[in-house]
Amino acid sequence: MIDIDAFRSISYGLYLVSSRAEEESAGCTVNTFAQVTSDPLQVSVAVNKENHTASIIERSGAYTAVSLAQSASMELIGKFGFFCSRDVDKFEPFSVRTDGFGCPYVAEQAVARFSVKVTDSVDLGTHMLFIGTVVEAEVLSDEEPMTYAYYHAVKGGKTPPKASSFIADRVGGAAVEGDGANSGSGSAASQSDGAGSFSAVDASTAKREGVRYGWRCTVCGHVEEVDELPDDFTCPICGVGKEMFERIEL
Ligand SMILES: Cc1cc2nc3c(=O)[nH]c(=O)nc-3n(C[C@H](O)[C@H](O)[C@H](O)COP(=O)(O)O)c2cc1C
Repeated sequence: MIDIDAFRSISYGLYLVSSRAEEESAGCTVNTFAQVTSDPLQVSVAVNKENHTASIIERSGAYTAVSLAQSASMELIGKFGFFCSRDVDKFEPFSVRTDGFGCPYVAEQAVARFSVKVTDSVDLGTHMLFIGTVVEAEVLSDEEPMTYAYYHAVKGGKTPPKASSFIADRVGGAAVEGDGANSGSGSAASQSDGAGSFSAVDASTAKREGVRYGWRCTVCGHVEEVDELPDDFTCPICGVGKEMFERIEL
């Protein structure tokens, strides 16, 4: 028997992993970065094979991991966690530095960074586990590090399917994981219509009394429980504009 709730007891931090190969940079949000030995100083990270970051790490043989601060913005986490480096320059809006390998890393909203030389890559099926030796490590601020639990419970963050820890909504298999046991309100999973998708509704029916509506982000699944979104609204999770939201019945 596998009780999927048992997996919710596993604690993680939240990190940005980035790399650069042949003039191409990539980076993504991860919760799977971890120290695995102290002598030598070795770490590992599980990166989905479909993430562009995985192919860049494979080509470069190195990566930088940044521990995010608890105060890190949802724009930063969302930009690196819900968009692909093939489509957007994720680094452009942020303060970026380069490590000894030539890997770019976000040097703001961060607590520390580690530059890692990959020594072993383990094929886990959906993900590659990149094991490596830390060759540079630096404290960037004295802020509290962000935990995965804080991201879900306090920031209201979501986890996309490519994350190792993604647990699909057991009722409907929604595309974006909700915050499950951490908090009940506003989660994508808790808004599921039970059929694996969200019920987009005609705006004209919104006038019916007693029915509550909200707006669901089609990129990350975040739900805003308001009747209307202001024109300049941007998703607090992934940063896309109002045009990427669809109206749903709550
Ligand atoms: C909270 C959070 C945790 C994530 N953890 C991981 C992870 O551990 N491994 C992974 O491969 N992707 C993880 N992801 C998903 C990637 O960040 C996401 O697929 C990203 O868009 C990949 O970008 P890329 O194609 O530029 O590499 C996570 C995303 C979020 C928001």
